[in-house]
Amino acid sequence: MFQLLPALPADPILGLMASYHADSNPKKIDLGIGVYKNEAGNTPVMTAVKKAEGMILDSQTTKSYVGPTGAAGYNAIVAELLLGKSLNDSLGKRRVTVQSPGGCGGLRLAAEFIKSANPDATVWVSNPTWANHVPLLGSAGLKIAEYPYYDYDSHSVKFEAMIECLSKIDSGDIVLLHGCCHNPCGADLNQEQWQQVRDVALKQGFTVFIDLAYQGLGDGLEEDVYGTRLLAESLPELIVVSSCSKNFGLYRERTGAMTLICDSDAAAAVAITQIAGAARAMYSMPPDHGAATVQLILSNDTLRTEWDAELTEMRDRINGLRAQFVKQIQSIGIEQDFSFIEREKGMFSFLGVNVDQVQTLVNDYSIYLVNSSRINVAGINDSNIEYLSNSLAAVLKA
Ligand code: LMR
Repeated sequence: MFQLLPALPADPILGLMASYHADSNPKKIDLGIGVYKNEAGNTPVMTAVKKAEGMILDSQTTKSYVGPTGAAGYNAIVAELLLGKSLNDSLGKRRVTVQSPGGCGGLRLAAEFIKSANPDATVWVSNPTWANHVPLLGSAGLKIAEYPYYDYDSHSVKFEAMIECLSKIDSGDIVLLHGCCHNPCGADLNQEQWQQVRDVALKQGFTVFIDLAYQGLGDGLEEDVYGTRLLAESLPELIVVSSCSKNFGLYRERTGAMTLICDSDAAAAVAITQIAGAARAMYSMPPDHGAATVQLILSNDTLRTEWDAELTEMRDRINGLRAQFVKQIQSIGIEQDFSFIEREKGMFSFLGVNVDQVQTLVNDYSIYLVNSSRINVAGINDSNIEYLSNSLAAVLKA
């Protein structure tokens, strides 16, 4: 029976990672998968993480099961990182948080939960959105639709068109927003726009679902959750899936969380049973190590300060690279305006070149980027910025 199966194409992002590793060109540049890279092109384990791991190794006394919702201490501290202490306290038992196997596991868990709450729900995703959103949500059997988001000509959010679309979405449907550092375009909502989204959500009654994979990598740990906190304090219900892959560099440890705000304590008490049931049916329980590491870092003042400083360094490096890349492009006489790259946030921006030009960059120059022209800015460094800019110039002229 297995021989009847068709082969699937490689994942658009993970496939690129494999091709990059297989390329023997010494000049190759990895602007594909969204992992942070330092000036040397490495993705190191953060010092605070290394120290916490050592402490866990020394003190852990058991590897016994934890349970489908994960570690209570991790869930509490991650919710506080997301919401801030006072909002978290004021939400009380209306807020429940469940540890998940990474952001992906959290998104899949949320999809199951939505499917149980309303099997007919349509999830509205931004156009464009992260390549794995549709497979993750669609595999739970949810219908997917798109709202306009990014204007490729002006390199900014098509906010009027977005609001016009959201104004027609009703209660029972879900609107998926990127909390910060939009993946793939890097164009985020400003504070006033978040307020307008909140107003439309209140008026229409749809449920907002926030994917927050990059807290701390845009403007700062607090600044990046402005929209999430605004919606958490004003909407009766909210779903947030957060990830520690990027801001703790714990990619392969699969460390994430699904936070749910319900309109009453009673509804939250029921919801948690549904989420626990969905987790048990899919993977039984999340892996422990990454979550234990995050819990220790966030609850230990010294480790937390160290982590915060490392995260700030990562964020500053990315923002610095954005400015440096734009300057380099201008200095070699490329006429096309790339200044939007400096305005955008987080790891990603579209280069704005077409698929053929992307393919030329990949095949002829060993510069790896997603077909949509999404680049991971963190892959740029002092030793490759000239080659990258000159290659871009050559491709634009051809
Ligand atoms: C990305 O968008 O490159 C990252 O979120 C990694 C992934 O799993 O796709």
